[in-house]
Amino acid sequence: MTEVAVTAPLPGTALERLGRTYRVRVRPPGPPLAGAELAAFVGTADACICLLADRVTAEVFRACRRLRIVANYAVGVNNLDLAAAAEAKVVVTNTPDVLTEATADLAWALILAVSRRLLEGDRLVREGRFDGWQPELLLGSGLQGKTLGVVGLGRIGTAVARRGVAFGMRVIAHTRKRPSAHPGFECELVEDLEAFLPRVDVLTLHCPLTSETRGLMDARRLALLPRGAILVNTSRGEVVDEGALVAALEAGRLDGAGLDVFEREPAVHPGLVGRCDVVLLPHLGSATRDTRAAMADLAVDNVLAVLEGRPPLTPVVPVLAR
Ligand code: DGY
Repeated sequence: MTEVAVTAPLPGTALERLGRTYRVRVRPPGPPLAGAELAAFVGTADACICLLADRVTAEVFRACRRLRIVANYAVGVNNLDLAAAAEAKVVVTNTPDVLTEATADLAWALILAVSRRLLEGDRLVREGRFDGWQPELLLGSGLQGKTLGVVGLGRIGTAVARRGVAFGMRVIAHTRKRPSAHPGFECELVEDLEAFLPRVDVLTLHCPLTSETRGLMDARRLALLPRGAILVNTSRGEVVDEGALVAALEAGRLDGAGLDVFEREPAVHPGLVGRCDVVLLPHLGSATRDTRAAMADLAVDNVLAVLEGRPPLTPVVPVLAR
């Protein structure tokens, strides 16, 4: 019987729907799987739905000879060896669009939390240290009239930029691919990253993790940001050199940072943990009930399409159905 291996239970009813037609084997929640371990779990399955922390290496594509599709339960695909998938003629799909607005909202939650010092305020109240209104209590920085710098003007970056306009910010973007259509709001594209960074008050990262973006925000580039800037990362942790970020915060060059992702996720640089000018979240970008259920539906629809010989809905590695 055709079998689908799923590396973790998923929210919503998508897996039930899949189970009406195919045998579905779901791994109980556990640490991510990589290489040989993942290959052993997938075994002779015809399809796999995996999480962003599972590492789908060439070994998996070589060992799992019946595999026809790997549906990544994420929009980012840095956890898969795409060249090995293409070589093995395995379709790879991701979950774009359905998570755009939720992730853009979360990037803004971080921008607001850092710029208005929400966690410090919350702690002060809970610890019984709030003695009443004071003119200089926990002053943050306003956003109106400031410059929002968006790195990566894909779906999520564009949604974050659009919100920036609503907050009265000037929006500039640095993006590898020039957008094919005008975003529909005022946004200046700055091709040269070195010219872009000194203009940014709030830097928000939305680029995919590739060999070019790994370590993009290193010590040298962080030093190009103006004094008092804020950095927010909801893309992939490896885009930021965390050691360099800690040094910039310690030196008082940045006002703060909001991180939803980490360089060695789930580990967090010890220099970040004790700081009150950073907000740290456990990779919650797409974490709304509706969004996570929609991601499961899309992953399952991709699996159903490929197993039924139809083209996948959101292919990353498109391969003609075998
Ligand atoms: C993704 O989809 O790549 C996010 O990081 C998690 O939803």
